Amino acid sequence: MTNEALSIRFFRGKSEIGKSTIIENRTILDLAEDAGVEIPRNCTSGTCGTCIVRLITGTVPIPDEIPLGLDEYLMKEGGILSCCLCPITSCEIDITPPI
Ligand code: FES
Repeated sequence: MTNEALSIRFFRGKSEIGKSTIIENRTILDLAEDAGVEIPRNCTSGTCGTCIVRLITGTVPIPDEIPLGLDEYLMKEGGILSCCLCPITSCEIDITPPI
């Protein structure tokens, strides 16, 4: 077990636009705000899909009951909802929606 802080890096396409330290149970949207990165949002409860981003690397668990703003196809494209999901490993996120 290491004490090294886990980090989240944000990209827009290939350009890195921000980075922050992962804090347990803090959503990707919150971590983006920590990094000064703006992600569009609306409901902030997993329903509308406005906050969708693409997971490039890392692990972000999705609950068994898939949030309404997500579906199997979007998940296959790497789509995750930043307003209600939390990373558990260091990860890289493209804030460009997957489709
Ligand atoms: S803001 Fe609506 S699903 Fe995230």
